[in-house]
Amino acid sequence: MTRAIIIDGKAAAEELRQDIAQHVGEARDYHHIVPGLAVVLVGADPASQVYVRNKNKFAVEVGMRSFEHFLPEDTSESELLTLIEGLNDDPAVHGILVQLPLPRGIDTQLVIETIDPVKDVDGFHPYNVGRLFTGGQGVTPCTPLGCLELLKRSVGDLTGKRAIVLGRSNIVGKPMAQLLVRENCTVTIAHSKTLDLPHECRRADIVVAAIGQPEMVRGDWIKPGAAVIDVGINRVPLPGGKSRLVGDVKFDEAVEVAGFITPVPGGVGPMTISMLLRNTLLLCCRQSKIDEGFCERP
Ligand code: GUN
Repeated sequence: MTRAIIIDGKAAAEELRQDIAQHVGEARDYHHIVPGLAVVLVGADPASQVYVRNKNKFAVEVGMRSFEHFLPEDTSESELLTLIEGLNDDPAVHGILVQLPLPRGIDTQLVIETIDPVKDVDGFHPYNVGRLFTGGQGVTPCTPLGCLELLKRSVGDLTGKRAIVLGRSNIVGKPMAQLLVRENCTVTIAHSKTLDLPHECRRADIVVAAIGQPEMVRGDWIKPGAAVIDVGINRVPLPGGKSRLVGDVKFDEAVEVAGFITPVPGGVGPMTISMLLRNTLLLCCRQSKIDEGFCERP
């Protein structure tokens, strides 16, 4: 059997960022508008700090304005809501992202629902969730968008494919399943209570793993030739106090069976950030009444 083609998410993400940078330049030169992204982090979770710094770094790199708000762990819910209301009213800010998870004591759903849906760059507001499910203009969450882009770039047309999404989170699993339905796949959502996960997985032409369990999906769970998208980013300790990043899929086994597979790192992760930038550009175009076709091309 031939080994899987390894999907290069880093290269695809870089290509997207180049397109986005070109559009940002055109928005600046022809419309005198600079897309602005505000990122809010509450607390000092080291992984979240790395993600937020990367988001800001790449936003600036493509020519956007980046507004960072690092708040202490003991920030109150009302202080956070006041900050969000200020960002809602700030015309220089087109996209607002509040990094999750939030510290205990802050009502995450209330925070999400306080973000103006037209600036909800994550697509987590119930208005945008509803739009994803019913159609019409909304915002789609960045990680599922990145997964779909990688699938389309490798597999092509997804019509009629049997897909399984492992995980039912609001951030990845549920919107991912809906995006695959929109692409005419037959979709199963599996989760911790699914009875025979390996069996369900083996039936699928497309596997999207978003369960947060290091290397749980084994090679013999994969249908030969299937496309495997690994959303997991798990840090596992190594002897000597070091650590390494692994996905939710046991890569060395799955690569021998799959047709296409994303690595960790260098697969879905970089795509998520590029999709965040694309959503920011899209929201900027909508708020500035610039033709959306201009923004949707990248
Ligand atoms: N935490 C983990 N993934 C995400 C994401 O896509 N958006 C936000 N806001 N927080 C996250």
